[in-house]
Formats: sequence, structure tokens, C-alpha cells
Amino acid sequence: MGCGGGSAPGVHPDDRGVPAEVRLRLRVNGVPRELWLDPRVTLLDALRERLGLSGTKKGCDQGACGACTVLADGRRVLSCLMLAATCEGRDITTIEGLGQDGGLHRVQRAFIACDAFQCGFCTPGQILSAVALLAEGRAGSDDQIREFMSGNICRCGAYPNIVAAIRMAAGDLGRAPV
Ligand code: FES
Ligand code: FES
Repeated sequence: MGCGGGSAPGVHPDDRGVPAEVRLRLRVNGVPRELWLDPRVTLLDALRERLGLSGTKKGCDQGACGACTVLADGRRVLSCLMLAATCEGRDITTIEGLGQDGGLHRVQRAFIACDAFQCGFCTPGQILSAVALLAEGRAGSDDQIREFMSGNICRCGAYPNIVAAIRMAAGDLGRAPV
């Protein structure tokens, strides 16, 4: 059935009846968004190309580096492996939405304080992953931090400072949650 020929709500089929675009409604950084997109588009490309949120980085584009990490309903996900169309109704947080009340998130502050980056390409993914790791209660030791951050690769080798930053943020959490 062609376009305008009584297609299901939220679906724009092509002239062969194959869904060419689907409607996606979700929240990104607390803002409700509605998009029409090809059902094959990844969440990563939707964020970067359609919503202009280029803070989420495309490294390997195949689930191996962690550069594209964002939070979906508070849990870390690799946005290059997730189809945007599966995010209907979900709450997505990217690095652009992490700060609170106009200031940086405590993990962002700890990364700066510990000089936990060099080129910075991996940093948004590292920070989102660290935020989730803290929420998961997995910052009990340096070994645990290393294990649960192992999906986030840093080509510059800033690992010791990344671990130090997460330890600092975990300490801040214990003393005075922000
Ligand atoms: Fe997604 Fe590398 S870009 S894991
Ligand atoms: Fe350059 Fe991590 S700071 S890849």
C-alpha cells in the first residue's frame, strides 16, 4: 500500500509497502523528541545526524570501543548497536545532558581534576560509562573499576587517570552526593 493509502499510524511505507520510515518518540536529555526515520538507523546516527548531538562519538561503529556509550533509562548502552526505532518511549542521556543546574556532573569534574583524557575522543563514552558504573555500585576497588570499564577503550592510554577520576567521583558520592 502506498503512502497515504491507510498505512498504520507511525509508519510511512514505500511504494512496495515496506516501512521506509517509522515514527519515534522518546526523551533525549529530558526533552521530548519526535523523529521520522528509516528503521535501520542506529541510535548513534539518530543522535548525531538528526538531533545534532555530536558529543556521542562514533569510533568502531561495531560495538568494540565504547565511544558511543549513552544511558538508556539510566543503563549504559552502545548506541552504535541499538536501532533508534527500538527506543520508543525511552529516556536517553548523552554527554550534553549530563550536567545539572548549569554545572558539570561530578564525574565530569573528576575527569578534569584527574586529567583523565588526552585527545578526548573516548571521553564522553568513558564518562557515561563511569556514571552508570557508580550507579551500579561497581567502584569498590581499582580492579573492579578496570573490569567494569573494560568495554571503553582509550587509544591514548589514559587508563590510570580514568580509574583515579572514577575513584574520586565515588568518594564524592560517599561524602556528598550531587
Ligand atoms: Fe559503538 Fe565503538 S562506536 S562501540
Ligand atoms: Fe584519546 Fe581516550 S583520550 S582515546
